[in-house]
Amino acid sequence: MAHQVRAVVARGKGAPVSLETIVVPDPGPGEALVKVEACGVCHTDLHYREGGINDDFPFLLGHEAAGVVEAVGEGVTDVAPGDFVILNWRAVCGQCRACLRGRPWYCFSTHNAKQKMTLTDGTELSPALGIGAFAEKTLVAAGQCTKVDRAASAAAAGLLGCGVMAGIGAAINTGNVGRGDSVAVIGCGGVGAAAVAGADLAGAGKIIAVDIDDAKLATARKLGATHAVNSKEADAVEAIRELTGGFGADVVIEAVGRPETYKQAFYARDLAGTVVLVGVPTPEMKLELPLLDVFGRGGALKSSWYGDCLPSRDFPMLIDLYLQGRLDLDTFVTETIALDEVEKAFERMHGGDVLRSVVVF
Ligand SMILES: NC(=O)c1ccc[n+]([C@@H]2O[C@H](COP(=O)([O-])OP(=O)(O)OC[C@H]3O[C@@H](n4cnc5c(N)ncnc54)[C@H](O)[C@@H]3O)[C@@H](O)[C@H]2O)c1
Ligand SMILES: [Zn+2]
Ligand SMILES: [Zn+2]
Repeated sequence: MAHQVRAVVARGKGAPVSLETIVVPDPGPGEALVKVEACGVCHTDLHYREGGINDDFPFLLGHEAAGVVEAVGEGVTDVAPGDFVILNWRAVCGQCRACLRGRPWYCFSTHNAKQKMTLTDGTELSPALGIGAFAEKTLVAAGQCTKVDRAASAAAAGLLGCGVMAGIGAAINTGNVGRGDSVAVIGCGGVGAAAVAGADLAGAGKIIAVDIDDAKLATARKLGATHAVNSKEADAVEAIRELTGGFGADVVIEAVGRPETYKQAFYARDLAGTVVLVGVPTPEMKLELPLLDVFGRGGALKSSWYGDCLPSRDFPMLIDLYLQGRLDLDTFVTETIALDEVEKAFERMHGGDVLRSVVVF
């Protein structure tokens, strides 16, 4: 039996999204049908709508979601109907070269549902990041469901499915922030603010938030930043050096995705420190650096894909910390909205006063 549900679809490049009826098949082998409870609005959804990811329209948008498993297909043993789950876009395969070397967080062959969700006329939909959760129900690979404590709010929990996990993971996994480290985070939107929270969890001694927007800096302070720098008013590199005895921070996390902020991160880092790029650049961007500086400053220049997270390891742990009051996920939920307000949420993204708008069903 297939299910007809309401969902947010992007039909063409740059066109406003529309609310449509879609057809979701019953789960086949290895798949799970999930009743979505909440789904955050991420920049990546907007990138899909603008044709910035690929041309596989129509897209079924939404990918930062939590919900309850309604049914599972043959052979599924890790989750069962009734489980409260966060959806992830890293259902590891266990068999690729990364998985076989014991580094599943790099898995190069992640799973998605095999069956297609469609419009009522049969047109196949491309689900954003293999999820597609601006929908009352969605079909995913069972490995994309990570069971967590039901006591968590769905709106807050779902955010771990993408941007907030990317930020926390950029600090605790990729940056390997340790107790007493000095950390600077450049760009404190949803991802950067999460990197601040992650650095705080890891026991950083000093956390310097950098943004061009004072409202973002205020939120970053709330999440654990010890210092805030408005880089429209002060030179970011000089300010970070001044706050770290003239040396620069041990770990600098770039969460904007632009060459000029990457350069700031590169020069605001202490010798032998680590730069983490979690912001996503666009294809035309180029970086020019003296190679002698790359050598002479030593250390590590890393990129962070999805915070190098392993959902089965990181989601339940972070939800437990949230429920214990040690990780403030609620602050990331700026507003809750209805399914037909996604387009409005895209417009508000440019305003700067929103970390995340979250669709609640
Ligand atoms: N690596 C991953 O797996 C992953 C996952 C999700 C998102 N991302 C990327 O992370 C980046 C941030 O995402 P977000 O959701 O936080 O976006 P956002 O728009 O909420 O945040 C960007 C922030 O950067 C600030 N900013 C802009 N220009 C700046 C500058 N010159 N100097 C300092 N701050 C500046 C903005 O004021 C804003 O607060 C995006 O590039 C997004 O695509 C990466
Ligand atoms: Zn793999
Ligand atoms: Zn996202």
